[in-house]
Amino acid sequence: MVAAIFPAAGSSKRMGGSVNKNFLKLAGEPILIRTLKIFSQIERVNFLIVIVAKHEVETVEKLLNETENLKPWIVTIGGSERQYSIANGLKLLPDDAKIILVHDAARPLVSLRTINEVIDAAKKFGGAIAAVPAKDTIKIIDSEGFVKYTPPRKDLVAVQTPQGFCREILLQAYNKAAEENFLGTDDSSLVERLGVRIKIVTSSYENIKITTPEDIKIAETFLRSEIK
Ligand code: CTP
Ligand code: MG
Repeated sequence: MVAAIFPAAGSSKRMGGSVNKNFLKLAGEPILIRTLKIFSQIERVNFLIVIVAKHEVETVEKLLNETENLKPWIVTIGGSERQYSIANGLKLLPDDAKIILVHDAARPLVSLRTINEVIDAAKKFGGAIAAVPAKDTIKIIDSEGFVKYTPPRKDLVAVQTPQGFCREILLQAYNKAAEENFLGTDDSSLVERLGVRIKIVTSSYENIKITTPEDIKIAETFLRSEIK
């Protein structure tokens, strides 16, 4: 069985910070709900762990209770960093969850194909992450703002979610990070520190993370072209 963890407990600073961006509506539906509905369409996904800020728990529970066709879910409280939010979610894994997906609630345009391919690759390799080839040339810079070097673009990918892992590997990675005070910017970076080879699943450029106000317009445009 597959359990999926959805961090949605951030402060949405780049969106303006006044409301949790995961509650903003996209084509009439809150982003969080759209994301949860997509994962609920996948048969082998059996449990959803939704992570929000303490003061949002009740509202979100009510919202999820009113939503049809969701897989069984639980809502819990996040932490001050994304990694701490997910660490809280990991405490609530059902015993039979063998594959764990972590997916930013703020990526409501993820495709079923990407989710399925991440699950399959996580089963096969222990860890797999959605990513797209880098479009821009990326420079490694120094602390004074000068270029150190330019890695070849063909070797670079921009990483997204979902990221999927075998349960024991992910739990071990989170324990090690906590013991060593390592704070990563994605889940894979914690697992990489165990020496596990992480498989890249080529995703879609449409799987954007809703981050700044214009991302809402971009996402609406993608959705309109899907409906036609
Ligand atoms: N997240 C979380 N707990 C945190 C920080 C982030 O659960 N302490 C979640 C966000 O709610 C979001 C996802 O992780 O769904 C990706 O993070 P990001 O896009 O950076 O969202 P925010 O941190 O809310 O936005 P910002 O960085 O602009 O404040
Ligand atoms: Mg953030």
